[in-house]
Amino acid sequence: MIIARSTAELQAALRPVREEALSGVAFVPTMGSLHEGHISLLRAAQQPGDFTVASVFVNPTQFSPGEDFELYPRDEDRDLELLDQAGLTLAFVPSVADMYPVDFATRVLADPSLTSCLCGASRGPQHFDGVTSVVARLFGLVTPNSAWFGEKDWQQLQVVRSMSADIFPGIEIRSGATVRDQDGLALSSRNARLTPAGRLRASAIPKALLNSQQDNFSPTRTTAEDLLEEATQAFSSAEIELDYLQIRDGQSLQPVSGSITEAPNARMFIAANLDGVRLIDNVPIFSSPNHQPDRAAAATLAGSTR
Ligand code: PAF
Repeated sequence: MIIARSTAELQAALRPVREEALSGVAFVPTMGSLHEGHISLLRAAQQPGDFTVASVFVNPTQFSPGEDFELYPRDEDRDLELLDQAGLTLAFVPSVADMYPVDFATRVLADPSLTSCLCGASRGPQHFDGVTSVVARLFGLVTPNSAWFGEKDWQQLQVVRSMSADIFPGIEIRSGATVRDQDGLALSSRNARLTPAGRLRASAIPKALLNSQQDNFSPTRTTAEDLLEEATQAFSSAEIELDYLQIRDGQSLQPVSGSITEAPNARMFIAANLDGVRLIDNVPIFSSPNHQPDRAAAATLAGSTR
């Protein structure tokens, strides 16, 4: 595995790939402290013959003052070992000065219709503007054919998709399913900061989310409000301090209310604070994209496939 510690080293490592144009470049941006969720993205990104690049960079511009930038877990030696073991071709590990030289003044502002809600509302608009700015800078440096993002950060995925469609239409944005621990807790670098008691309580998060998922053809709860009320009660019994718990459309991120069967792409989104650690997660309310809103339609579909 090649390790590039500066933009100059990155360009040198990418030159043969560009000159020979023999393979595509698949890119997995990360903030390090890698876990199985990142590794599963790398595996998915590794198509035969592709040159796979991952970046490890804790991006200061996506943290607001008072957030956990200083405390964000970092373990570069372990990250590089895991990337090497996963068969990565090139690891890009830049410094802050390399990513943001003193004369670097450009910011890429994300679509406010996607960033003014959920984590954007809680963390402030600068969070996603920091994400789009660093991802745009990384895309400009790596010039990948495809880039991979985890579905745990669903809002980030939609924001990056929108930014990339506007500025980098040639880059295919791909996503990987959330990887969960045995008790269902979504893997996150921040989980390492939970106390043992906090880690135990955290299992209420996936439990309530997965409980809100509806059978495609016979939903047991009828409105978004019913689902939210049930999940809110579960979190209150588990003494989990909610930042938000909302149901929104998975693509536009607009709020969903009323009959849930009318919203086949609805997702439940949660952010919670445990032991001062911010955890986020989300699930689709209906698991299949072929969701049919009523039983008659389901019967028709079942009949037609026989
Ligand atoms: O999801 C992350 O780890 C970060 O937000 C990203 C996409 C690497 C940008 O810093």
